[in-house]
Amino acid sequence: MLSRVLCVCVFLSVFGAASSLSCRWMDGKFTQFSEAYLDHLNRMANNGTNSTEDAEVKQMVAFPSELYMQASKATAEDKLVFTVQVLEESAALLKKNHSSAPWEEKTVDNFLNVVTRQAVELHSCIRGHIHKKNKKLHMSFQRLSHVLEQKDHSAESWELIRENIESHLMQIDQLTSSLRKPTQS
Ligand SMILES: *[C@@H]1O[C@H](CO)[C@@H](O)[C@H](O)[C@H]1NC(C)=O
Ligand SMILES: *[C@@H]1O[C@H](CO)[C@@H](O)[C@H](O)[C@H]1NC(C)=O
Ligand SMILES: *[C@@H]1O[C@H](CO)[C@@H](O)[C@H](O)[C@H]1NC(C)=O
Repeated sequence: MLSRVLCVCVFLSVFGAASSLSCRWMDGKFTQFSEAYLDHLNRMANNGTNSTEDAEVKQMVAFPSELYMQASKATAEDKLVFTVQVLEESAALLKKNHSSAPWEEKTVDNFLNVVTRQAVELHSCIRGHIHKKNKKLHMSFQRLSHVLEQKDHSAESWELIRENIESHLMQIDQLTSSLRKPTQS
């Protein structure tokens, strides 16, 4: 009897420890990297293009706020999984043909470096290092990719995509704020 009680206690404590997120990168480096890629992205802004009047395009680049509402109610680990996917999908998109975009190659390279590092480090905090993709989130990035193709990767379409990515990167900062220790200041 005693051994059975002991067994349950050991199980509970092991399970309890494993269910809380342990991610030193999130406390130590996340904000620094987030500021860096948002800064690079800001420098890639194209003030020479007007926002689109095309209703179909507008719909395709509509920001998927509802996915963030769902993610905000998820477990710490699922928030992390969602965040990693946003970073990975954003990096993949910015690797597409940007010969017509106004930014310098060096700026986009720097952007990709920090985004990729952030993704890799956060990924290593996910238990088992595997994660299942959120299909709706994936679809919303697919739509952005289609807009680029439809518009022949024009400067104007890149600005729409850049703004969308910027919103995503600001939203994951919010989404993960509960996973960071409050900063002492
Ligand atoms: C474009 O506009 C943004 C925001 O108003 C500004 O921060 C940035 O410096 C501008 N970029 C250029 C190249 O004018
Ligand atoms: C943007 O809109 C303004 C006012 O409607 C227009 O004068 C300007 O030529 C447009 N710029 C581009 C790049 O289409
Ligand atoms: C990249 O896009 C431009 C148009 O923005 C196009 O002229 C060029 O052929 C494309 N390059 C590749 C490798 O697809």
